[in-house]
Amino acid sequence: MLSANMTELAYLVASILVILALKGLSSPETSRRGNMFGMLGMGIAVFVTLQLDGIENYTWIAVAIGVGAIIGGTAAKRVPMTSMPETVAFMHALVGLAAVLIAVSAFLNPVAYGIADTHGVMHTASRIELFLGTFIGAITFTASLIAFGKLKGFVSGNPVTFSGQHLLNLILGIVMFGAGIVFCMNESSTAFLMMLSVALVLGVLLIIPIGGADMPVIVSMLNSYSGWAAAGIGFTLGNNMLIVAGALVGSSGAILSYIMCKAMNRSLFNVLLGGFGSDASASTSSAAVGERPVKSGSAEDAAFLLTNARSVVIIPGYGLAVARAQHVLKELVEVLQAKGVKVRFAIHPVAGRMPGHMNVLLAEADVPYDIVEEMDEINPEFSDTDVALVIGANDVVNPAAKTDSSSPIYGMPILEVTKAEHVLVIKRSLSVGYAGLDNDLFYMDKTMMIFDDAKKACEAMLHAIE
Ligand code: TAP
Repeated sequence: MLSANMTELAYLVASILVILALKGLSSPETSRRGNMFGMLGMGIAVFVTLQLDGIENYTWIAVAIGVGAIIGGTAAKRVPMTSMPETVAFMHALVGLAAVLIAVSAFLNPVAYGIADTHGVMHTASRIELFLGTFIGAITFTASLIAFGKLKGFVSGNPVTFSGQHLLNLILGIVMFGAGIVFCMNESSTAFLMMLSVALVLGVLLIIPIGGADMPVIVSMLNSYSGWAAAGIGFTLGNNMLIVAGALVGSSGAILSYIMCKAMNRSLFNVLLGGFGSDASASTSSAAVGERPVKSGSAEDAAFLLTNARSVVIIPGYGLAVARAQHVLKELVEVLQAKGVKVRFAIHPVAGRMPGHMNVLLAEADVPYDIVEEMDEINPEFSDTDVALVIGANDVVNPAAKTDSSSPIYGMPILEVTKAEHVLVIKRSLSVGYAGLDNDLFYMDKTMMIFDDAKKACEAMLHAIE
C-alpha cells in the first residue's frame, strides 16, 4: 500500500499526464501521443485508487473491470467512426449515471464516505458538494440519453417544442435549486429526492427542443457537464484526482463548445439554456429537392477539369467518411500533385459527425498536415482556386447560411466554394445533408454534380487520370 504522500504524488503525476493528453489531442499531429498520455494517466489513477485504504473486497471490482473491459473493447472495435457522436453521448450518460449512483449511496450512508460526524449528520460543505454532483450528474444522464437517442435515430431528430416550454424549464430549475437549498440546510431526504427527480426530468426537457443540426454543440456541452459531475463527486469522495480530471474535462468541454458555437454562429448562452435553433418551420422542405435543373457529369469529366487546374481545393464531408474514400482520395491527390497541380484540403469545424472528424480521416490516410487548411485560412483563397472539389459534404458548403436569413443555418460560417472558378460535387443524389436543407450550390452554373458513391467516383477519377 502506498503512503498518503506517495498517493498524492502519483495523483499529481496522473493529473499532469491528463493535461498533456488534452494538449496532445488539440492537434492531429500530436493526438496519438496525447491519447497515450491519457491512457497512462488514467492507468496510474486507477491503480493508485485501487490500493486506497478501505477497499476490502477486490472480487467485485475485478468482475466489474472484466465486464467493462469486454464491453468497452468490443464496442471500440465494432463502432464505426461515423457512429462516434452517439457512442460519446452514451459514455456521457454513463458518467452522469455513475455520479448519481455514488451520490445516492453517499446520501444513504454518509459515515461510510467520511462526510458526516459520528452521529451521522452530514457536514454542510459535503451537502453542498453532494447537491452539485447529484443535479449535474442527473441532468447529464438523461440529457445524454436523449442526445444518444436523437443521434442514433431512436428519438426523432426534429425539435420537440410546446408553448410555455422555457417557462416550465425555469420553474423546474427554481424547484430543483430550492429543493437543493433545503437539502443543504436540513439534510431532508424528501428535498434530496425531489431535487434528483426534477434534475432527471430537466435533462430530458433541455434536450428535446434541440434540432439535429445543433447536436454537435450539445454533445460537447454534455461532455463538459459530465466533467463537472465527476468533479462534484470527486469532492464527495475526497478524491483529488477525480476533482482535477473532472474539472479538466469540464473546462475543456466548455471551451470546445464555445469554439463550436462560434463555428456554427450560435450563442453559448442559448445552448446552456437549451432550445436554441429550434425553428423547425424555417427548414426547407426536402420535397423541393430535385425539382430544379442541375448540370451533371462523369468522373472522367471531373478528371479532365482537375488535371487542367493550377489549384484545387478539396472539401471533405460526412459522405467521405461513409464511403471510406480517404485512402483512394490520397492517391488521387498524389497523382494530381505529380502533374503539378497545387492541392489543398479545406476543413470545416463541424464537417462530418464529430469534432475533428475530417482531420482524423485524413490522418488515417497519411495526408500531410501542411496541405490541410482550416476554414479561416482557406476561405480567402477560394477566389484564386480553379476547382473546388466537394466530396460528400453538403451543409458546410450551403450558401443559404450566408444568403437566406430564413434558413435555420443562417449565420453559420461556411466554406465559400462558390468563389472558386469551377465547383465539382461528388454525392450520390441531390439528397439533403444533416440539417435537412436543399443546397443552391448544386444548381449553380459553375457547379458540376458527379452522382456516385465518393469512393467509386474517386477510383474512377484516379483511373481516368492515370
Ligand atoms: P452533411 O451536410 O450531413 O452532408 C453529407 C452528404 O454526404 C449528404 O448530403 C449525402 O448525400 C452525402 N453522402 C452520404 N454518403 C455518401 C457516399 N457514400 N458517397 C458520397 N456522398 C455521400 O455533411 P457535412 O457537409 O459534412 O456537414 C456536417 C453536418 O453534420 C452539419 O450540419 C453539422 O452541424 C452536423 N453535425 C456535425 C457534427 C460534428 S461535431 N462534426 C456532429 C453532428 C452533426 P447523398 O445521400 O446524396 O449521397
